[in-house]
Amino acid sequence: MAESIIVNKNLSEEEIYNNLIPQIENLISESDAIISALSNFTAALKEAFDKISWAGFYLLKGNKLILGPFQGKIACTEIELGKGVCGTTAEKKETIIVEDVNKFPGHIFCDANSKSEIVIPLKYNNKIYGVLDLDSYVYSAFNEIDKKYLEKLCNLLLKKIDPDKILKLII
Ligand code: SME
Repeated sequence: MAESIIVNKNLSEEEIYNNLIPQIENLISESDAIISALSNFTAALKEAFDKISWAGFYLLKGNKLILGPFQGKIACTEIELGKGVCGTTAEKKETIIVEDVNKFPGHIFCDANSKSEIVIPLKYNNKIYGVLDLDSYVYSAFNEIDKKYLEKLCNLLLKKIDPDKILKLII
């Protein structure tokens, strides 16, 4: 694996994503333990974008999402399917962009300073394995460009690792 990632913060966000994709592809190897791959994935995203205050996975166990590898402040450990932005994303199997968390009914605050959020379902062959959650301290931090590239990155991740092993992480 690569020892570090290179990010040029003077580039546009789209360019940063385009530079990040091959680096993340290189960073994660099929032989990595799942927990290592997920951990590095969140670290790379947080390092690439200053707008991200928290980047992490919630992984599916039964009808709950369980806190997985993340970068940022401590967070709630369990979210029920259908609850909060994460539980709603997992239930609908669709990315949700929240421009103002105060306006999302049932949003779960793990950090009172959070202002906006994007949650991407970890979906492979239409099966849900969990979600990737990114938070920001600024309003409207995430948009369709983030959605497009984060979905691409999550796909890439699930193709590299055996997604069924994700479910075995949570015991
Ligand atoms: N805000 C999320 C909870 C997870 S924390 O943001 C890390 C939600 O409403 O599901």
